Amino acid sequence: MRRYARITGTGSYLPPRRLTNQDLAADLAQRGIETSDEWIVERTGIHARHFAAPEVASSDLALEACRKALEAAGRQAQDIDLIIVATSTPDMVFPSTACILQNKLGANGCAAFDVQAVCSGFVYALTVADAMIQSGAASRALVVGAEVFSRILDFNDRTTCVLFGDGAGAVVLEASEQPGILASDLHADGKHVGILCVPGNVYGGQVLGDPLLKMDGQAVFKLAVGVLEKAARATLDKAGLTDADIDWLIPHQANIRIMQSTARKLGLSMDKVVVTVDQHGNTSAASIPLALDHGVRSGQVLPGQTVLLEGVGGGFTWGAVLLKM
Ligand code: UT7
Repeated sequence: MRRYARITGTGSYLPPRRLTNQDLAADLAQRGIETSDEWIVERTGIHARHFAAPEVASSDLALEACRKALEAAGRQAQDIDLIIVATSTPDMVFPSTACILQNKLGANGCAAFDVQAVCSGFVYALTVADAMIQSGAASRALVVGAEVFSRILDFNDRTTCVLFGDGAGAVVLEASEQPGILASDLHADGKHVGILCVPGNVYGGQVLGDPLLKMDGQAVFKLAVGVLEKAARATLDKAGLTDADIDWLIPHQANIRIMQSTARKLGLSMDKVVVTVDQHGNTSAASIPLALDHGVRSGQVLPGQTVLLEGVGGGFTWGAVLLKM
């Protein structure tokens, strides 16, 4: 009997401070930066995003998301034997946000580490957890995406600061005889490091270089639309399924135009795509588990359905995970 890894609970959390495009445009106008609700909606599909309060860290957002995922799975923190957090905005340089989260949850003793694959982080983390569960190295994991991207935004750069938001999403992934994760496909191409990065580093007690996000949006856009279709097809092939078997596509929520393009290439109508970018903006590694939890709790994504998750982002990284709910 094959040992699968299956999602048994989902959870998510958004910090309470919500900024509409109008709110953000008014803030930016005070710095002499011009933008508008019309531009942001037309180019990205984003209407609003959430920003965490200054004292709130990624592990705090992750904690709330994990509590909800555990409750949905009917599990206690002590039942968990593995925590993987995908984040590019960790609480500290080290230790990992996963260790900090583990202590806040009271799951002390289990394996815990972070995955750094920027906006593809959740599909990377889910694939690693799946492999560990299939091999017997773990049996019950929390897989989390958590970000406070507002901390690394340059609010003098209108081409990036209107795009991102903060939040966290989590799943409980358990060993099961019932099919769960069916296949996955991960990639990276390090020659594109410069098109999406935070180039600064800590050096001798100081930040060396620019610690704010830089992005060549058009270069990222072009690469994203190409690789997302390929990753989707490769994952479906590995599972012996086709486009027609997909009940829900849950892509990284960066730009509605990239999502529409991916859906079109896969022959899916937009009513098979879970969309949260309009209300969350781009929450990097948190965007996919946030959208998955939204899909589950809104009654869109149902038990037994086939779901394709897709991530793309800095690195350049990309990948997909196909699963049965
Ligand atoms: O999460 C990782 C993955 N990231 C992504 O997937 C992001 C991918 N890229 C994108 O989503 C899009 O490229 C953006 C949304 C970032 C930009 O959209 P675009 O259609 O590629 O716009 P653009 O960069 O070609 O800019 C068009 C114009 C420019 O003005 P000119 O040169 O035509 O006069 C920009 O200066 O829009 C201007 N512009 C803005 N105007 C008002 C750029 N940002 C803004 C803004 N408000 N916030």
